Amino acid sequence: MTSVLVLNGPNLNLLGRRQPEVYGATTLAEIEAMCRDHVADWGWSCDCIQSNHEGALIDAIHATIGHHDGLVINAGAYTHTSIALMDAIASVEVPTVEVHLSDIHAREPFRHVSYIEKVALAQICGKGPKGYVEALDLLKTHLETEGM
Ligand code: DQA
Repeated sequence: MTSVLVLNGPNLNLLGRRQPEVYGATTLAEIEAMCRDHVADWGWSCDCIQSNHEGALIDAIHATIGHHDGLVINAGAYTHTSIALMDAIASVEVPTVEVHLSDIHAREPFRHVSYIEKVALAQICGKGPKGYVEALDLLKTHLETEGM
């Protein structure tokens, strides 16, 4: 069975109450349920992990080897700082799509830089929770055209 990992980084556990004017009212549990439901229609499975710790995110990326065919990642603020996360994604060679709820390019200049972008198939931002669904659709197209 095709399997994907949806990985969320720091502070995203607080979605729904965290700066709703920036990130919206949808909780992380609701986003994860949306992702699971979306891929279930294709007969895929979806694991969802959130961590506030960079090392735990790296471990989760490493653990995709042999278990997951694709990765959707919102690395939160580590997006803008973490060469280690970028290296982890490059090391496992699992097709990856980067997601952000907000439009990072329309915000503070320090959010315009993404290390994840350098190793991802695509970056989706500014679309709210729908961005995760769009990322899964992109992965599906990629896996169907490039093979598993
Ligand atoms: C975010 C954007 C990041 O700049 C920020 O640090 C986050 C959330 C987003 O989903 O819009 O934590 O990744």
